[in-house]
Amino acid sequence: MNLVFVGPPGAGKGTQAEAILKAFPIPQISTGDIIRATISGDGALADECRRYTEKGLLVPDDLVNRMVDRRLQADDCRPGFLLDGYPRTVNQAEALEAMLERRGRALDHVLLLDIVDDLLVERITGRRSDPETGKIYHLKFDPPPAEVVNRLVQREDDTEQVLRRRLTEYHEKTAPLLPFYQERGLLRRIDGTQSMAQVRKQILQVLGG
Ligand code: AP5
Repeated sequence: MNLVFVGPPGAGKGTQAEAILKAFPIPQISTGDIIRATISGDGALADECRRYTEKGLLVPDDLVNRMVDRRLQADDCRPGFLLDGYPRTVNQAEALEAMLERRGRALDHVLLLDIVDDLLVERITGRRSDPETGKIYHLKFDPPPAEVVNRLVQREDDTEQVLRRRLTEYHEKTAPLLPFYQERGLLRRIDGTQSMAQVRKQILQVLGG
């Protein structure tokens, strides 16, 4: 199963990826995670990526396209993949189409987590993650157990100010993907305003899991 997850920052893509991976044996490919891992190293590439993410701007297409092309070559992608946060521009979507065509593959579903901006500030500013397990929590909606609270971290770009810029990027550059995938009959709208359990149920229904 070849899947793409689209949605604004904080819509719940990372949270729901966990449920999908439990139901289907495919790897999650999060370009946000790949970029954060790059930034945690040294060198010109780390500096270049940081310059964009710290301002809430998208990293240039050619850089991200190369990262994904390389990742899709790995053996674990043979049964399929869940692309989380990629593509994010029409240029990236066209690049992905070409990458898949070269490999004789195609997308099965593009899952859109649909949610209004007003709900995202609280989701983003309350998000914390566990650096040991990678698990995502929310201080109000998915409170962490007491034994992990002290080691939780907050992402540097999870401030209200940077979120506003990320949302502008989403509406200007990522929203055009919706008609792109609608025309191809791939877009599946999921109501992202529901509870985590309801969202999970709707996604699994769409995927037949
Ligand atoms: P990335 O890491 O992809 O961030 P994002 O798209 O902004 O998405 P988030 O990870 O913030 O949100 P999410 O939808 O995964 O929400 P989550 O499940 O955590 O990208 C970061 C940066 O990297 C970008 O700004 C850009 O610079 C760069 N980048 C990445 N990909 C790129 C690309 N393709 N091209 C160019 N640049 C790229 O949920 C959020 C919180 O809400 C959590 O605390 C969770 O517990 C809670 N929550 C989740 N669901 C619910 C619910 N239903 N009800 C209540 N709370 C909920």
